[in-house]
Amino acid sequence: MSGQFLLAQISDTHIRTDDDGASVGNLRRALAQARDYRADVILLTGDLVNDERADEYALLAEAIAHPPAPLYLMPGNHDDRGLIRSTFPQHAYLPREGHLSYAIDQFPVRIVCVDQIVPGETHGELTKPQAKWLDRTLAKKRGKPTIVALHHPPFLTYDLLFDKIGLRDGPLFSSVIARHKQVSRVICGHHHRVTLGQSAHAPVIVAPSSSWTYGLALHDGQPIAPKTEEQPGWILHAWTKQGGFASHFMGL
Ligand SMILES: [Fe+2]
Repeated sequence: MSGQFLLAQISDTHIRTDDDGASVGNLRRALAQARDYRADVILLTGDLVNDERADEYALLAEAIAHPPAPLYLMPGNHDDRGLIRSTFPQHAYLPREGHLSYAIDQFPVRIVCVDQIVPGETHGELTKPQAKWLDRTLAKKRGKPTIVALHHPPFLTYDLLFDKIGLRDGPLFSSVIARHKQVSRVICGHHHRVTLGQSAHAPVIVAPSSSWTYGLALHDGQPIAPKTEEQPGWILHAWTKQGGFASHFMGL
């Protein structure tokens, strides 16, 4: 591929210290695959650890100490902003206070990461200040193809649990995206299964978890969030100037 850009999205790593190395092992396998595919950037889209614990972040730090490409972190509902900041001081793109939202500008595709977690809660919220930040940030480079990343999917999946603990203010998010036609993809995690949706004009891709997969509960009485035997994985988003995006599910 010439004129290409390859983004490895690894999500919901849920690093823990009591799983006999399973979560770290899967992350290491995903990173090794990203290396084999020569990813240009690696983005971890939240739920970095399982229980917001310092020892889990320390384990994560060890696993990502020598990434095969520049690696960026985003928080999910299982994360603690303060511990992310204190464990990864070398990640200078992270704002020193407030939300961990930022833009990555030095690649052919712009990546805008929106922190919409609510400390202590499972659902997500796009606050009005964060919506304004997103609008302002996207307005700075209208001519550059852009991926917007967030943890919670901004559309209804019809799953009984995940809609309840999803992103409130999905319509507000979509109203911002609608003003920025350069946004070619929205990517997220949270649901622990590959799901496709829409936000304004932009396709939304929910990455799987690298640790485990959840099934669906679509009808009353079905067990919510049943773990399934489906393959954990990650997503390789490939882009060229000529053809735009293709996104590939990579099994672990
Ligand atoms: Fe998760």
